Amino acid sequence: QTFEYIKVSTPKPGVGLVEINRPKALNALFTPLILELNTAFRAFDKDPSIGAMVLTGSHKAFAAGADIKEMSTKNFADAYGADFIEVWSEMPNTIKKPVISAVNGHALGGGCELAMMADVLYCSEKANFGQPEVKLGVIPGAGGSQRLTQAIGKSRAMELILTGKSFSGQDAYDWGLAARVFKTPEECVEAALATAETIASYSRIAVKACKEVVNKSQDLGIREGVEFERRVFHGLFGSEDQKIGMTAFAEKKKPEWKHR
Ligand code: HXC
Repeated sequence: QTFEYIKVSTPKPGVGLVEINRPKALNALFTPLILELNTAFRAFDKDPSIGAMVLTGSHKAFAAGADIKEMSTKNFADAYGADFIEVWSEMPNTIKKPVISAVNGHALGGGCELAMMADVLYCSEKANFGQPEVKLGVIPGAGGSQRLTQAIGKSRAMELILTGKSFSGQDAYDWGLAARVFKTPEECVEAALATAETIASYSRIAVKACKEVVNKSQDLGIREGVEFERRVFHGLFGSEDQKIGMTAFAEKKKPEWKHR
């Protein structure tokens, strides 16, 4: 499969890498590009040799937003009638394997929102995050008001979304939006690939269940969430990999997963 706006590779065992590659527009996101992202993630999600994915952009821009030129002439009927932005939800809503975003350079508007859709966010210190939609007469439209608020708290998110002010990779880390922050873009991408490789070395079944139960915590209260977790935990005693993993520990051997 050849793509026009993204690059797809498998740089480490079990790891799928997706790089946004529309340099002329600082990786601005428009529908054809999002459809390519969906195709790539769907293929990796189905590929049994892949255990985790990394999503990144260039050193200059993860993505400088949704494509303002694509949006500028739309009216309400165009947007509502065609479910504008709905295709963006495929990665967070349907991809079952973990996705790590490695954010360098600009991650503005829809770029920031796309980064936040990943399961884990890594960035470099000078990454430039922001939700500047208010400056264009609109609001975040791909989950920014919800995911940013959940990640960094209401007061900070409100300030950022109301002012359109940017924040750095260091801020993203200090506020808990990023799991880790790195000095350079190279280190950031390397670390994301290394983490993806680690995840890909585990049982696919266990990894899938980890992602499912953590995501459930976003929708359920603590009591129901813990009950859900326990059901899934119990279910894993029916998998071969539970036997393989626990027996290997007891025998001081490396587990050879069935579901890999
Ligand atoms: C379309 C964009 C773009 C965007 C940059 N470009 N961002 N095109 N949509 N979001 C294009 C520029 O028009 C320019 O094209 C080329 O990329 C290089 O950008 P420059 O502005 O010349 O680069 P620079 O001076 O380095 O400034 C970088 C920048 C600036 C600060 C990131 O480009 C910028 O402010 N971009 C817009 C950021 C933004 O507002 N994002 C939120 C969008 S709204 P030409 O042809 O002139 O070379 C949004 C809504 C989401 O995302 C809601 C639902 C998803």
